[in-house]
Amino acid sequence: MLTLQNVTIKFGGLTAVNEVSAQIDRGVIFGLIGPNGAGKTTLFNIISGVYAPTSGIVNFDGQDITGLAPYKINGLGISRTYQNINLFSKMSVLENVLVGCHTKSAAGIIPSVLRTDNQRLEESTVRQKSIEILEFMDLADKGNFTACNLSYGEQRRLEIARALASEPKMLLLDEPAAGMNGKEKEELSETIRKINAKGITILLVEHDMKLVMNITHQICVLNYGKRIAFGDPEQIQKDENVIEAYLGGGIDV
Ligand SMILES: Nc1ncnc2c1ncn2[C@@H]1O[C@H](COP(=O)(O)OP(=O)(O)O)[C@@H](O)[C@H]1O
Ligand SMILES: [Mg+2]
Repeated sequence: MLTLQNVTIKFGGLTAVNEVSAQIDRGVIFGLIGPNGAGKTTLFNIISGVYAPTSGIVNFDGQDITGLAPYKINGLGISRTYQNINLFSKMSVLENVLVGCHTKSAAGIIPSVLRTDNQRLEESTVRQKSIEILEFMDLADKGNFTACNLSYGEQRRLEIARALASEPKMLLLDEPAAGMNGKEKEELSETIRKINAKGITILLVEHDMKLVMNITHQICVLNYGKRIAFGDPEQIQKDENVIEAYLGGGIDV
């Protein structure tokens, strides 16, 4: 579904992503791990169109998407969340999801001054869809809350809800469990599985190795921008290069 071919990005003298190739099959939960600064978020930024790679090709669903604008890539079916919470904090929970829907809705970004019956109809459909997504993410009872008043775990869930609003084929999650407690992490694992069960392919960057090893089907490991390993969770835990990259201490599962 997503193929990276020798993807490289340089920032001045630093090669943040270095000749990375990978193939992510449709329907999987794919883990992208590696020590801090390995280039994981940068790779997400390349896939989602925030950065164009210095060289290399990104292919999604049979189409070359290298260097396309983020909204175009989103329109083709890739949606993401951010390592740092990136919500419209003064808007309501429901509005945050509505905003996510609008990147795809047929009426698009037609200014509300041009309100037509058609648009009003669509808004009600979009509203209904947003409410369903909030239900799916267990946030239905919080729709009228201001986003910043949600608990930390709920804000993280709302980020995912907003990303789902554009009906992606592939969802990129950048450290979704960061700052969560054990119970929240378990719930998040279930949520990610539930999203995957709807047929959405998942690319997951996460530091919590227990979570990663439990829910991913395949894992690619980056270190200093380079791909150092690829395999299923069992293979990755035994991989010499991976153990060394994690300071010889092994992966603490
Ligand atoms: N816009 C940028 N300009 C310069 N350096 C960057 C930029 N974005 C990321 N980097 C650098 O690229 C490297 C990889 O960063 P990042 O992808 O955030 O790592 P990870 O997400 O794996 O922790 C780091 O050394 C970081 O400082
Ligand atoms: Mg990162």
